[in-house]
Amino acid sequence: METVKKARMVVDKAYKIAVVDERIYGSFIEHLGRAVYGGIYEPGHPEADEFGFRRDVIELVKELRVPIIRYPGGNMVSGYNWEDGVGPLEQRPRRLELAWRTIETNEVGSNEFAEWGRRVGAQVMMAVNLGTRGIDAARNLVEYCNHPGGSFYSDLRISHGWKEPHRIKTWCLGNEMDGPWQIGQKTMDEYGRIAQETAKAMRLVDDTIELVACGSSHSGMPTFPQWEATTLDHTYDTVDYISLHQYFGNRSKDSANYLASSLEMDRFIHTVISVCDYIKAKKRSKKTMYLSFDEWNVWYHSNEADTKIEPWSIAPPQLEDVYNFEDALLVGTLLISFLKRSDRVKMACMAQLVNVIAPIMTENGGGAWRQTIYYPYMHASVYGRGVAINPVISSDKYDSTDFTDVPFLEAAAVYDEENDRLTIFAVNRSLTDPLDLSCDVRSFEGYRIIEHIVLEHDDLKAVNLAGAELVKPHSAGNAKVSGGILESRLSRQSWNVIRLGR
Ligand code: AHR
Repeated sequence: METVKKARMVVDKAYKIAVVDERIYGSFIEHLGRAVYGGIYEPGHPEADEFGFRRDVIELVKELRVPIIRYPGGNMVSGYNWEDGVGPLEQRPRRLELAWRTIETNEVGSNEFAEWGRRVGAQVMMAVNLGTRGIDAARNLVEYCNHPGGSFYSDLRISHGWKEPHRIKTWCLGNEMDGPWQIGQKTMDEYGRIAQETAKAMRLVDDTIELVACGSSHSGMPTFPQWEATTLDHTYDTVDYISLHQYFGNRSKDSANYLASSLEMDRFIHTVISVCDYIKAKKRSKKTMYLSFDEWNVWYHSNEADTKIEPWSIAPPQLEDVYNFEDALLVGTLLISFLKRSDRVKMACMAQLVNVIAPIMTENGGGAWRQTIYYPYMHASVYGRGVAINPVISSDKYDSTDFTDVPFLEAAAVYDEENDRLTIFAVNRSLTDPLDLSCDVRSFEGYRIIEHIVLEHDDLKAVNLAGAELVKPHSAGNAKVSGGILESRLSRQSWNVIRLGR
């Protein structure tokens, strides 16, 4: 028997969390699988532009309004020589790429990627190699990318055909350096020291850049959260952000538990903020450390297939998760987690963007399409800009295998004052029942419903394939406002975007 769940909520424009940094809607392209070759770049494809970039992919990325994209890795960066990817194409070496055990052709490198970033309207977030390399390669890359001219590396860039500097502002000091899988893994003190000294040299080349130090590879690492404390002890004055990475998966085939995983992300963010503030207090510092959640997503569907990949192939289909509807719901709750802590989370990158654990898929020589997770990501990126409002929520709850007191309703609100818009993002986690939402929006006088977008499906396992997109949003949601109270019956297992305005 259906029992309707209930939730009450107050959204008051006075309860501001922070201005949402649009870079929380960032993403990531690694030289891995078919992300670059066959994904963003495929010369010879009917949609290829003069650089070999696929126009159909560019259009899908633009629709997402991705503001910043991390590059070139990921694990790959810890063995990468950036010099291999610049200069005349025919002179670029083919290398054994050790992180993913493939052949890297280096047809695309820093210049091409910066150009692609301009074409999709995104900034580049560049990672430097602190695995096999260090201070010297990092400072030279900053000079190559950002110095206007009149020095060895900036003139080299100009001689390669890129007269204008790329002006890359955001730089990552390595990748997941605590991980035993990482080439050149470091202890926390080794990493703290190399990150500090590399940061210093990079800033001497360009004092306008901002820097992200590596936090733990995920919250389950044995050295978490001491890794963050030690790293920040070494680098607090020199870096601007500490990174967080986390992937999720419904491995135990327990959907109610899976959909509660955003509570784990909330806890992870909370702990990292606490560590940052502990170091701030210890150092008597006035500076606040911000968080860059620069790898997050669902990643598990492709794990088994990836064990069968032939080593040393070029751009094989790796990490090609086919996402289902429940993954889209989880992604919605994770985006809500970022909004709830938008006072401290200033960047976040959905990992990744094309073909590799990605919202966008392509066929080599064929079409491009949107996975299920594309939709909540697009909705948040397009409508979630403005000031995040702290919603006071009282919701019916449930217990799952790993979590207690899981609210059926997960929600966030963003107020775009300039355009007189309020957007409420809401997930009904119940797998069986609709949820009656009653939301007090009296402080938004005269606001009415513009649109109530819903992503729903009866089958949690429904997927989108080439030419068959089963999971798509519609705008026939039932939200209405009367006397300053918004009422809506949210379908069971649904992602909702309720847009209000004058
Ligand atoms: O995004 C895939 C991989 O996940 C990245 O290369 C690495 O940083 C993380 O472990």
